[in-house]
Amino acid sequence: VKPAGSAGCFQFPIIKSVSMQSDTALSPAAVLANCEGAADRSPWKLLTECCDPPRMFAVTKQNSPLGKVMWYDGEFYHSHTVNNETYPLFVQENPLQLPLKKCAVVGNGGILRGSKCGKDIDRADFIMRCNLPPLSKEYLEDVGTKTHLVTANPSIIENRFQNLLWSRKHFVDSMKVYGTSYIYMPAFSMSPGTNPSLRAYYALADASANLTMLFANPEFLRSVGKFWKARNVHAKRLSTGLFMVSLALALCKEVTVYGFWPFAIDLDEQPVSHHYYDNILPYKWFHTMPEEFVQLWHLHKSGTLRMRVGRCP
Ligand code: CDP
Repeated sequence: VKPAGSAGCFQFPIIKSVSMQSDTALSPAAVLANCEGAADRSPWKLLTECCDPPRMFAVTKQNSPLGKVMWYDGEFYHSHTVNNETYPLFVQENPLQLPLKKCAVVGNGGILRGSKCGKDIDRADFIMRCNLPPLSKEYLEDVGTKTHLVTANPSIIENRFQNLLWSRKHFVDSMKVYGTSYIYMPAFSMSPGTNPSLRAYYALADASANLTMLFANPEFLRSVGKFWKARNVHAKRLSTGLFMVSLALALCKEVTVYGFWPFAIDLDEQPVSHHYYDNILPYKWFHTMPEEFVQLWHLHKSGTLRMRVGRCP
C-alpha cells in the first residue's frame, strides 16, 4: 500500500469486515469514523517538541547524572536514584548519528508471514525490531536478517531465560542473531523489571558481546505515552511498536513500518495469526492496538510514514 498523501480519508474497504484481535472497544465502523479526524499532520514535530527523543530516548550519563531520581513510568510512586552501581552502566550520550536516513520499524504482526518483505526491510539504513523476535531461517524471507536496535522487555528475560538466575549462555547465544545492534530495555518502567535488565546488561558485558545495552528513559516513555493519549490512544500502556514508530519518526528522515496489523484477517480476507511466529494474543486490556493502528494509518495517509501491509514487490 502506498501512502496516498491526499487530504481525503483513505478508502480502506477491508476494514469493514476485519475483526479486531486484541480489543473490542473499537468497532470497524469506529475505525472508519476515526479516519475523518486525521487533522494532525505533523505529529513528529510535536513529538520532538514534547519529548526531545534524540536527547531523552535512552538513559544516558548526560541526562541522568548521579543522584538523579528517575520515576518509573509503568507504576506509581516508584523511583530509582542513580547511584554508583547504575551510573556506570549508562552510555555517555545518545550514541546514534542523527538524523538516521531510511528506517524500518518491524512490528511482529502475522501479516508479515508470506510477505516476502525481508529484502525490503534489509535495505533500510536503520532497522528497529520489537521484543527479541525470532529471526530464524524460516522467517528471513519475510522479516529480513539485519537489526540495528531491538527492544527487550524484562518479562522476556524472565519467561524465556529463567530471569538469568542460572546459565546466561542461552541468552548470550540467542542475542547473536541481532549482530552488533542496540538492545533497548525499559529497565526503569516497572520495579520488578530493573534487576533482570541489569542482569541482561552484565550477561552481555561479561561475555564481551557485540550488542550495546540502552536503557529506555522512563521520562521519555511517559511523555510519549501522554502524547498519544492526547491523540485517542487510550491504552493502559502503548504497545512497544508504537513507542518504536514514535522514536523512528523523530530520529529518521524516512520511516517504513512492517508487521503492524492487529486484525484477524488480511486484505484478502484470509486469516492472519497475531504474530508472524505464533498466535498468542496480548492481554486484553493492556494495549489498544487497533486504536494505535488508526493513528499509524493517518500517518501513512499523510505521507509521514509508509506502512506495508501486504506483500512486498
Ligand atoms: O509486547 P507487545 O504486545 O507490545 O508487542 P509484540 O506482540 O511483540 O509485537 C510488537 C509490536 O508489533 C506491537 O507492540 C505492535 O505495535 C505491533 N503488532 C501489531 O501491530 N499487530 C500485531 N498483530 C502484532 C503486533
